[in-house]
Amino acid sequence: MKKVILRKTEEIENWRRNIKNDINFIPTMGNLHSGHIKLISTAKNDNSNVNLVSIFINPLQFDNNLDLENYPKTIDNDIKISFSNGADAIFIPCNEDIYPPNNKKIKFLKAPIELSSALCGLNRIGHFDGVCTVVYRLLNLIKPKNLYLGEKDWQQLLILKNLVQIKKLNVAIKSIPTQRDFDGVPLSSRNVHLSKNERKLIRFFSNELLEAKRNFQQEKKINLNEIIKKISAKKISIEYLEHLHPHTLQQARLEDNISLLAGAIRCGKTRLIDHVFLMKRSPIIAIDGPAGSGKSTVTKLIAEKLKLLYLDTGAMYRALSWLLIKESIDYKKEKKLQNILKDISIVFKSNTNSHQDVYVNNYCVTEEIRSQKISSIVSKISSIKEVRNFLVKEQRKIGESGGLVAEGRDIGTTVFPNAELKIFLTASIDERAKRRKSDKNSKDSQEIDLHTLKELIKKRDFEDSNREISPLIKANDAIEIITDGYSINEVVDKIIDLYNDKIPKDTEIK
Ligand code: PAF
Repeated sequence: MKKVILRKTEEIENWRRNIKNDINFIPTMGNLHSGHIKLISTAKNDNSNVNLVSIFINPLQFDNNLDLENYPKTIDNDIKISFSNGADAIFIPCNEDIYPPNNKKIKFLKAPIELSSALCGLNRIGHFDGVCTVVYRLLNLIKPKNLYLGEKDWQQLLILKNLVQIKKLNVAIKSIPTQRDFDGVPLSSRNVHLSKNERKLIRFFSNELLEAKRNFQQEKKINLNEIIKKISAKKISIEYLEHLHPHTLQQARLEDNISLLAGAIRCGKTRLIDHVFLMKRSPIIAIDGPAGSGKSTVTKLIAEKLKLLYLDTGAMYRALSWLLIKESIDYKKEKKLQNILKDISIVFKSNTNSHQDVYVNNYCVTEEIRSQKISSIVSKISSIKEVRNFLVKEQRKIGESGGLVAEGRDIGTTVFPNAELKIFLTASIDERAKRRKSDKNSKDSQEIDLHTLKELIKKRDFEDSNREISPLIKANDAIEIITDGYSINEVVDKIIDLYNDKIPKDTEIK
């Protein structure tokens, strides 16, 4: 594809009409640095879409003329950087193209007050309105499939996600973590304004935030006043330093697993922002749903793609049921059940095919627990209070430090009620019976006729939804996905998009 530079609105509209592929859009204000390069190259490596970079210093997002005048302008270098890192086209409009005078069609937007009145919005009046206006204008001209933004401007990212949602724009936002220099300072176009001494100050500030992040992992708490004192002692002028919920930007609550520590400081004439995410444990995805909804297949794939631990809680109930049958234990006899629970060990181990095997007391039961015999009693076994209490405790132990995706029937309601993402996966009974019938791993299901399979599924649903302890119900904050008509990969991609939307990329401790 011939690389092009477009300047006029008509040129971009013409170009857009002739582009058959989807577009990845990377909006910038120029003075490109490694953070922008990461955005462009991520877009390039993500898919085979056409990559369009825009370079436009948007006057509406500056609350101060001097700041606008001084904003670094390096257009020739920006063009070189964009093309050499994967841009297929560059849009460099001027003010009149983006805001044609007397054009009533241009919408001047207001950012939502809940998100724009905190942090940077406190002092930069109108800044986020300007960002919303320009991005909305650019999205309408370009109509991209994907919009690439940096997490460095986390508040901006939240506000633009909100814009896309409110305006029902058909674009997916992809974000990349904050890119930092060798000394911990986040990359920013404004860094070029810093003197040697000012650079030292921002380095101190950023490294304090990174230190707070490391300490939080150990101590699970933060002393904001202490940090403010340390920073102020260096004569750094703090505009704000706040500990907030990462999505609502309200004060962080004790029960929040992920929170945001965000600050802005003034170094001479330059204002710089930085933030870190504080995490008590790694994220958890809870996937609940009835039998045959595709939970296992979907959960395994998600674990693989997101490199999370896979916790199949249903397999634990099946494993226990297997042992009770094997030892001919009458599970209604409390003492006998207690003895079994006291000594049982249920362990998951990766096998050579990088799948998981289930071991009960060191004996591999992966295949045996999928028999119809086990299917027919597991619901009863799992409705026994002692069994539930015991296995929920075991599951929580496995999930103590997070970093897992768990599937079951009460994950989002009982086992991990604080999971970051809760999915309720379901499908019609017809669809679920058809899936069971064609499940190559379940010999029994293949031998049972479709009608009987439907009846068995209905019975299992009834038992699961009506048991006294931890019945199968959708958690209030779970997102329901009905999988009829969707391929496994479509469902997996949807859940991964939801995860990426909730969990900042920058949550790993380096
Ligand atoms: O983050 C930026 O560089 C700008 O705010 C953006 C998104 C390009 C809008 O002008």
